[in-house]
Amino acid sequence: MQRVWSGGADGAAGRVTSSASPAAVHQPRSTSPSRLISRARSAAPHQQRRTGCTALACALLLTACRGALNQSALEPKGPQAARTAGLWWFALGVAALVYVATVGTLAWALWRARRRRTEPPPDGERRMTRAVATSIGVTVALLLVFLGYDLAVGRATSGAPVRSPLTIEVVGHQWWWEIHYADPTPQGRFTTANEIHVPVGQPVVLVLTADDVIHSFWVPNLAGKKDLVPGRTQTIWLQADTAGVYRGQCAEFCGYQHAKMGLRVVADPPAEYARWAAAAKQPAAAPTDPVARRGQDVFLSRTCAMCHAVAGTPAGSHAGPDLTHLASRSTIAAGTLPNTRGALAGWIVDPQQVKPGARMPPNALSPSDLEALLTYLETLR
Ligand code: CUA
Repeated sequence: MQRVWSGGADGAAGRVTSSASPAAVHQPRSTSPSRLISRARSAAPHQQRRTGCTALACALLLTACRGALNQSALEPKGPQAARTAGLWWFALGVAALVYVATVGTLAWALWRARRRRTEPPPDGERRMTRAVATSIGVTVALLLVFLGYDLAVGRATSGAPVRSPLTIEVVGHQWWWEIHYADPTPQGRFTTANEIHVPVGQPVVLVLTADDVIHSFWVPNLAGKKDLVPGRTQTIWLQADTAGVYRGQCAEFCGYQHAKMGLRVVADPPAEYARWAAAAKQPAAAPTDPVARRGQDVFLSRTCAMCHAVAGTPAGSHAGPDLTHLASRSTIAAGTLPNTRGALAGWIVDPQQVKPGARMPPNALSPSDLEALLTYLETLR
């Protein structure tokens, strides 16, 4: 039987590795006590190995989870997140101390009660009252310290910086992020989606609102959460002190595809950010390649242009993400898929397969139209 099932060790629980038929697997076997004991003994090392393998797999999985992308409130990369992380570690430290003190006192009391098998001392009642009063006093004092620290962090993280050269408006949609870079002049303003570039070392003000339901903006490495509420405008600020890509996630359940409402904050060195912003302000270059030109015709004549905008073309709808510089983004579908030709093709043809309930309908395009459209979209750098 053990040769038939080799779950865990080879990574697949309950995989059949011999050619035994299902009938053979389920055949009743002798269950004499001696047989059962020997079977249990021979199974024990397998069991241990399986537990070990499961633990190893969990550890690897956890390592993989934190590996590729930054998404952790415990690895702060800016002043806002550093304050929140400080509060978290403080709370953990105090809670650990209280736990050790409580369990230690309990163990000490039990040990003493076992040793002293006599009547309690005459002033026992008074001593107990004193001990309980002291514990309550310490608890209240600790809670006040927590409250004070919490308020101080809240104050420090909520106030917008006095001067910020960069304001970004973020609109939450089911299930993607619309991003406008504000500017006093219309030509300085530009729109993108699901990927925010910020300059390293500069405070950035984010003005948040929602189009449909309540969402929550959260980039754990950079700042705490803030809700996006329809009809209301809220402001937070964040600052990245280290260049890198930080993953964010909608942190308020907002419908079936809430989990697939990711975003990325790309923190660039200032010069690189300036180059990116200058390019992002430009309208899309007209395609020169004949296939891409045909792709643009497909884009403008089919349903695409009814929901998406590409600056420099007649397509100007903002019902879906702005695609002017789609090819410069690293993911599509709000962080759900990598921005590759294959993933883009699958997404265009049947978005409901990837994100059931998303507003984007399936698109029945002929293979040549689809190829041309993909070639056009790849020119939108
Ligand atoms: Cu948007 Cu959850």
